[in-house]
Amino acid sequence: MASILNSVQHRKTFAIISHPDAGKTTLTEKLLLFGGAIQEAGAVKSNKIRKTATSDFLEIEKQRGISVTTSVMNFNYGGVKINLLDTPGHKDFAEDTYRTLTAVDSVILVIDCVKGVEEQTEKLMNVCRMRNTPVIVFINKLDREGRPPIELLDEIEEKLSIKVRPLSWPVGMGMSFTGVYNIFNNTFNFFRANKQKIEKDMETFNSPLDPRLRELIGDGADVLNEELDLVNGVYGEFSEEEYLNGHIAPVFFGSALNNFGVKELLDTFVKIAPDPRSRETTKGTVHPEDDSFSGFVFKIHANLDPKHRDRIAFLRVCSGKFERNTFYYHVRLGRQIKFANPATFMARDKSLIEEAYPGDVIGLYDSGIFKIGDTLTEGEHMMFKGIPTFSPEIFKELVLNDPFKSKQLDKGIMQLTDEGLAQVFIEHNGNRKVVGTVGDLQFDVIQYRLINEYGADCRFRPLSYIKACWVVYEAVTDIAELLRIRSNNLFYDKHKNLVFMAESTYQLNAAKENNPKAKFLFNIEHNPETVDIEREG
Ligand code: G4P
Repeated sequence: MASILNSVQHRKTFAIISHPDAGKTTLTEKLLLFGGAIQEAGAVKSNKIRKTATSDFLEIEKQRGISVTTSVMNFNYGGVKINLLDTPGHKDFAEDTYRTLTAVDSVILVIDCVKGVEEQTEKLMNVCRMRNTPVIVFINKLDREGRPPIELLDEIEEKLSIKVRPLSWPVGMGMSFTGVYNIFNNTFNFFRANKQKIEKDMETFNSPLDPRLRELIGDGADVLNEELDLVNGVYGEFSEEEYLNGHIAPVFFGSALNNFGVKELLDTFVKIAPDPRSRETTKGTVHPEDDSFSGFVFKIHANLDPKHRDRIAFLRVCSGKFERNTFYYHVRLGRQIKFANPATFMARDKSLIEEAYPGDVIGLYDSGIFKIGDTLTEGEHMMFKGIPTFSPEIFKELVLNDPFKSKQLDKGIMQLTDEGLAQVFIEHNGNRKVVGTVGDLQFDVIQYRLINEYGADCRFRPLSYIKACWVVYEAVTDIAELLRIRSNNLFYDKHKNLVFMAESTYQLNAAKENNPKAKFLFNIEHNPETVDIEREG
């Protein structure tokens, strides 16, 4: 039986993030090939959701179903067990991705060399920065005519507010792409378009000035040397410590589709990426090697089939050892619960697990007892911190068509928001329910599920709010102006926190200016400092 410490030292849990189409799915597949988890390309189904008409949203959910089985992939490489947490590609499910990032210890960021830093990349990196998550950058699609590498690196530093340090450097791009020079190993990896197999075509040199390199790649060697002089001058030494602190991102160049540069990326990842890290709770720091088991739920996946209303709660193990059929303490409910069928999911298969260690993610069958952020322990009354709720971007009023179904509607919207599908806000001055999401798609999903699963016939009415901010204050006098002038814009979230809905940036700025003692926050922690046990029902 593996000891906890030994297991912790041989595990890496990470996610790949990118703007849609940069190559996340392709890179995932190549990593799984290297890890021997799949045997051929094409085995990993993209969970990308194509732009679909509203009426096709069942299709969307079917596609989303794929992401259950690809939610957590694991493979072994270099003696390390690697857990790769999948993140939805579609921007409407971005909040799912944000939450998944709370369950990983590091990320690989994929950037398309033609498009550079895109909108979704910036948002995802903002989440990584909140937690100082270590990032390795993979600049992809070098087989295409992309932008000059130096320009791309400048853009990353500027737009993503992170220092970079290239560890490899490309020679040519697109039609003239010759290969990549590994700055630290002094190896040159010759580019061969190759979509299926894993082949190495690499040679080691004394330095980039080695005459043999010039013989092999011609004038490209001169350009390489000029550029490397510049790179080494501008970027200085690579510090592993700064990477682990989330301050500097090592950069690799390659082409995921051609399986090129992926091995270097993986080798470096295994060497430098952090092991499962310690985490903060309401009762102090929990270390992965602690004997006592603890973990938290970061994602809940519902089954759309009304005959099978079960959900799967994904739990990240943070300390100790999780064992099947053992009682654990569900802190929010104050109840002991055991799990007979904890599972892992892998490329369409799910399998039962007997035990899991820090860094592992397990799927627990959930009959509706879990919310995002819930903590399981061996009895300790604490909750994990650092699981944020983000300000939604689209707001609509939830309107009941059949007044006799208000109970069903209330129950339905509470459960769906527990899953993290959207957020619900209740009016300060009344009872109107406003649903906030990061994407339009969720409204279709919610309406369908409220009607079909809860029997609550309802519709959505568009609203003109553009932003929701949590208002934090000490005394009511701190928000006197807000209550007087803007009380129609005030709502409460599910946890009774005060929320200000702004119709314009101007209105938001005015509210901030006129209530200087209050804080207006764009995200808020899931778990409060003290844990009250909730009654079920
Ligand atoms: P995503 O998960 O980040 O959304 O991206 P995905 O891997 O699905 O890749 C998006 C598109 O980019 C795919 O093409 C994929 O084949 C292509 N691609 C990925 N890596 C490379 C690369 O290194 N070079 C080039 N030239 N293309 C790459 P598609 O036509 O949209 O899809 P498909 O029909 O090939 O699956």
